[in-house]
Amino acid sequence: MEKFIVEGTGEGLRGNVKISGSKNAVLPILAACLLTPEVCEIRNVPPLSDVQYMAKLLQELGAQVFFDEEKEIMRVQAAEISSVEGLYEMARKMRASFLVAGALLGRCGCARLPLPGGCQIGSRPIDLHLKGFQVMGAKNKQEHGVVELQVKNLKGGEIYLDFPSVGATENILLAAALAKGETVIENAAAEPEICDLADFLREMGAHVEGDGTDTITIQGVKELHGATHTVIPDRIEAGTFMTAAAITGGDILLENVQEEHLRPVIAKLAECNVKTEMTEEGLRVYRKGKLHPVQVKTMPFPGFPTDMQAPFMSLMTVAKGTSVITETVFENRFIHAGELQRMGADIKIDSRSAVIEGVDTLTGTKVKATDLRAGAALILSALAAKGETEISDIYHIERGYHKIDEKLRAIGAHIRKENKENE
Ligand code: EPZ
Repeated sequence: MEKFIVEGTGEGLRGNVKISGSKNAVLPILAACLLTPEVCEIRNVPPLSDVQYMAKLLQELGAQVFFDEEKEIMRVQAAEISSVEGLYEMARKMRASFLVAGALLGRCGCARLPLPGGCQIGSRPIDLHLKGFQVMGAKNKQEHGVVELQVKNLKGGEIYLDFPSVGATENILLAAALAKGETVIENAAAEPEICDLADFLREMGAHVEGDGTDTITIQGVKELHGATHTVIPDRIEAGTFMTAAAITGGDILLENVQEEHLRPVIAKLAECNVKTEMTEEGLRVYRKGKLHPVQVKTMPFPGFPTDMQAPFMSLMTVAKGTSVITETVFENRFIHAGELQRMGADIKIDSRSAVIEGVDTLTGTKVKATDLRAGAALILSALAAKGETEISDIYHIERGYHKIDEKLRAIGAHIRKENKENE
């Protein structure tokens, strides 16, 4: 199995990093390509394993997909939907496969998809997705681990989300674009990825308003046409590299970021005594003095992103003093704490809160990535640790971070990938 071997150098990272397109924006946008028989061209597509899975799923449903990985351009044409059944393997590998449900309902009124299972960070139910589809007239049947959705005439409706779920907001948006009449989503998610999907749907001819707020209104249209769209930069990859500069006491420049997507992370880093400044070339991130401990509470956007919780915990393990992290979005997202403790971190977990006492140094050892953000957190800790750290199960990390080892090496990190069979 492939592993990352990281040597803590004690030196701050320095140099420029180009941030890739957003994984969590491109996945729903690729699902949206099912809504038209015409060609869609998506640019700034990160060649991640999750993107490959989604492309494969679209092909199983009948779409033609051509991906120029060099240019990071993907062309999709779903001239015909030849199947409404997502294969079990694909859907089990990636929960975001369920995002094709809304698009299939909009395009052909039915979908048969494996129930996306839970994962390490939580049970990940889809009740809010199904509640939205039900309001729009779809019947759903769940048996043998498959959810079957059927609707004769998809119609708009008023949908209130008990929680501003990103996936549910996206799935309902995808179905509402071609539904008959008006759909209003209340308590909608307001993440930048929602706005990017809404931008793409508008470019296809959809009538969407209010994205980025808690109330989104969609006037259904008869059909949508092909469009060309450039995906927004990945704010979580950017936040991860910002935290890498912070934890190593470095000075880096992030190219291809949108500052307004990073406000919660910029604000929290400022509390930790980490400076940022937007320049012509991009966002400069640097630390001059000692790290300060902070209180962090993850919240839906524009709050502090849950996907940045694990990387931030790594940072707090070496900030002298007491920090407290509260995870309000997922019920089990502290698994990385155990691995960090093996590197010498002082962390106490009490249900949704983690109390962290900063230590002088972490020490390298063998650790395991349990999900992509936890894996990223282990890389950050390894960069700051004394000695060598071996990180296994790095396939988790490579789902959401394109060439993270190459990008880190280019700014001075001692990290390499090794293939250690049968270890
Ligand atoms: C998206 O997941 C992201 N994934 C996640 O990123 C991210 O952590 C999450 O949004 C929150 O920002 C993609 O965009 C592919 P949710 P999603 O629905 O849509 C509960 C990463 O690391 N909920 O907003 O699944 C749910 O249990 C990944 O890139 C219901 O109760 O997140 C959770 O507690 C991890 N019922 C909360 O809402 C539902 O029907 C937030 O989930 C749906 C969700």
